[in-house]
Amino acid sequence: MLFLAKASGQKPFWIRKVSEIRTACAGGMVALCGIFGAVLRTGDAAPVVHRALERLEYRGYDSVGIATISKGGLEVKKDRGSIRDVDLRLHLDEMDGSVGVGHTRWATHGMPSLENAHPHLSCKGDVAVVHNGIIENFLELKRELEGRNHLFRSRTDTEVISHLVEEYLADGEDFAESVRLAARRLEGSFAIAAISTARPGSIVCVKKESPLVIGLGSSSNYCASDVSAFLPLTRKALFLEEEDLAVLESDQTQLINFRTGQELEREVVDITWSPEDATRSGYKHFMLKEIHEQPPAIRNVLRIQPIYYDLMASKLEKAEQVFLLACGTSYHSCLAASYLFTRLAKIRTQPVIASEFIEQYGHTIDKRSVVLAVSQSGETADTLEAVRFAKSAEASVLGITNVMGSTLTRLSEVYIGQNSGPEIGVAATKTFTSQVSVLTRLALVLAEKRRTISEDEMTKLKDGLLGIPAAMEEVLSVGPQVRELARKYRDRSSFCFLARGINVTTALEARLKLLELSYIPSLAYPAGESKHGFIAVVEPRFPVIFVAPRDEPYHNTVGNVMEMKARNASTIGVIESGDEKLKELLDDFIEIPVRVIDLLTPVIYVIPLQLFAYWMAVERGCDPDRPRNLAKSVTVE
Ligand code: F6R
Repeated sequence: MLFLAKASGQKPFWIRKVSEIRTACAGGMVALCGIFGAVLRTGDAAPVVHRALERLEYRGYDSVGIATISKGGLEVKKDRGSIRDVDLRLHLDEMDGSVGVGHTRWATHGMPSLENAHPHLSCKGDVAVVHNGIIENFLELKRELEGRNHLFRSRTDTEVISHLVEEYLADGEDFAESVRLAARRLEGSFAIAAISTARPGSIVCVKKESPLVIGLGSSSNYCASDVSAFLPLTRKALFLEEEDLAVLESDQTQLINFRTGQELEREVVDITWSPEDATRSGYKHFMLKEIHEQPPAIRNVLRIQPIYYDLMASKLEKAEQVFLLACGTSYHSCLAASYLFTRLAKIRTQPVIASEFIEQYGHTIDKRSVVLAVSQSGETADTLEAVRFAKSAEASVLGITNVMGSTLTRLSEVYIGQNSGPEIGVAATKTFTSQVSVLTRLALVLAEKRRTISEDEMTKLKDGLLGIPAAMEEVLSVGPQVRELARKYRDRSSFCFLARGINVTTALEARLKLLELSYIPSLAYPAGESKHGFIAVVEPRFPVIFVAPRDEPYHNTVGNVMEMKARNASTIGVIESGDEKLKELLDDFIEIPVRVIDLLTPVIYVIPLQLFAYWMAVERGCDPDRPRNLAKSVTVE
């Protein structure tokens, strides 16, 4: 291992401006939980970890916990609830020891509970682990470890890590090597901080696809999910890269690649962000950060265990009628799903706005009905009321939500956690594309069961879905052009979004984003419907935005562009790169630099339109994170 940096009087290798590292530390990952660790030369770590966890609170969490090494043993305090409540009950600052790790949990595997709260211990209680991310192969590892008599106390994926490390320690490996060997067995995404009585003066961290950054103090070192956690302690940061393993001691940090064992050098970065900027990883608003988090959010969707889809698909298959129930953006996900389910699985579904469900369909609901409710928060009152009604009529209730432990998870017979991580901006962005991706996977599982599409098409769609995160990364490069577009159109008083097929969903979602963030009354229509009324309001310079990939209904959409042009509307399009025909016709266009399968286009084509809504809000002096009169979760009917 390479001796990298002495904390006291240490000279960084070189310093880069922090603005350059923004995408490296935020764009590539999405955080589900908060991690913090401290190794101090003197004094107690617990109060330092406690304060740092408070600085990570903004990310959202359901449980909290700290472990320290004290008097040759591990001390752990953890529970479900807020840091304040847990501290009032357990007195976190009273824990002894100069080395400690802490965690704020955003549940993915296992409900929020004391048992599932981190840190997780080995059987002997000599290893404590905190983790952010998803271990994809945890079920196999758990079975294997249980077969060798390991006793599991939680339902988390994380706990396999402490047991694996324990095994390597028992084999005579030292602690850092044990963590390294354990990390090599893990599939998925992980940022891990582990402590052990086997090496009481250190924290061992590893990172793959989840953020982890080291803070270099003068006689202390820290690890954290983001720099905001340690900014009051140090501004010298070292961003871990893929497959890095770091051993932190109070006066030095050592780095290797955990797969190859090769020694590493990493640059030390001087953080100039304010604490507020740091919570947004340098982005001006959470919304912009969350738009950029979409590629890793979809990677998290792709990690959801197939068993949940199978369970849900078998309920849907048997249903006489299927309702897709939601509000706002989640309703748009349901609308997209209705296209996917008919096209792929030949299942007819009824997307319904939750507040209308009882009036519209109440009299037809019975035990042969299945209601699939989609709610980011899992707490939207209108959705829950409709769900409770459906249950009282003996319908089966299924749920898709971002919040494990939410009321929707408790009311559902089967639910899928969409794994998007906390969304702080009021407007749904990454949670929308994640929901649509979950529903696409569900439609594919149904299609597989029902053999409704050819193997060739199935392979293409599965590969296409796997390619979505990379495609999103490319699409995000259109940001500067979208900003220009917003500058040009910022003073228009209304917009209309038109599309055909599954992208009617995209048009509706783009309209919702624009109106809720910029307060511009706007319309969205299936393009074919525009001549049945909307066209009456079109006058010269009225801006009409088309979502127009070269999909099946493309030729009809081109006809609609011509209709609007003939009335001298300002025509704008989100189009496929190299579409010369539309480039010729449109006044302005954003070219999507990647080709994706028609049915997968909404999650790609919506991105420039999310950015458009964001930049329009900024241009018009509105706060995109906190639009007026709106709440993140609407818990009143
Ligand atoms: C729009 C938005 C809202 C929510 C709606 C449902 O950007 O965020 O329209 O989609 O309030 O919320 P959930 O999904 O939590 O039920």
